[in-house]
Amino acid sequence: MLACEGATLDYGSYRALSGVSVRVERGELVVMLGANGAGKSSLFLAISGLRRLRSGSIRLDGQELAGRKPSDIVAAGLVQCAEGRKLFPGMSVRKNLTLGGYVHRADPKGSEAILERVFGMFPILRDKQHDTAGSLSGGQQQMVAIGRALMGRPKVLLLDEPSLGLAPLVVKQVLEAVQAINREGTTVLLAEQNAFAALKIAHRAYVLENGRIVSEGSPETLLADDRIRKAYIGA
Ligand SMILES: Nc1ncnc2c1ncn2[C@@H]1O[C@H](COP(=O)(O)OP(=O)(O)O)[C@@H](O)[C@H]1O
Ligand SMILES: [Mg+2]
Repeated sequence: MLACEGATLDYGSYRALSGVSVRVERGELVVMLGANGAGKSSLFLAISGLRRLRSGSIRLDGQELAGRKPSDIVAAGLVQCAEGRKLFPGMSVRKNLTLGGYVHRADPKGSEAILERVFGMFPILRDKQHDTAGSLSGGQQQMVAIGRALMGRPKVLLLDEPSLGLAPLVVKQVLEAVQAINREGTTVLLAEQNAFAALKIAHRAYVLENGRIVSEGSPETLLADDRIRKAYIGA
């Protein structure tokens, strides 16, 4: 469903991605592992059209995305939940969520139905819908960020380190929500440093190191690889 081939991206003279090829099949939950600075966010920003590739292609259902406007990419069904949540802290939870449906503003009824689905998934957000987003806990803010991405009606949802900075119990809740979203039919590409927790919910994973894919396989295969265990799982 999502196919990235030979993606190369530079920041000035610094090469952040070197020929990265990644595929995500319809219905899959694929994890992108990699240490800080490996290039996970650069790849995601390029897929979303927020960074321009030097070379390579990114296709969604066979349609080329590279070079298209970010808003067109969202409308095509590829939605990113950015690293660090990037909420509007002074605006209400409800307003943050409805903004995620901006490209679908011609269909307010459809957006209302998805908002209900988000409130069903995260009941605390219904209770706090009129509070400012900035007044919520870190975990609740992450729920708003995920909910806002769902309002964009993703066929493929890109989640960039949703567990960053959260307490272990909250990490577990967030990753369970990601798994539930996938089971309800959304294809997911998830970047994580939290390798052990992420591999538990993944169908397949890639390992990114210094802008290159160095390993790919099932969670079982990666968990059994000593080098991967040492570098990413700490056991
Ligand atoms: N805007 C930028 N300008 C220059 N270098 C950048 C920029 N963004 C990221 N980098 C560098 O690119 C590399 C990959 O970063 P990033 O994609 O953020 O990695 P990750 O998300 O895996 O932590 C890092 O060395 C980072 O310092
Ligand atoms: Mg990052």
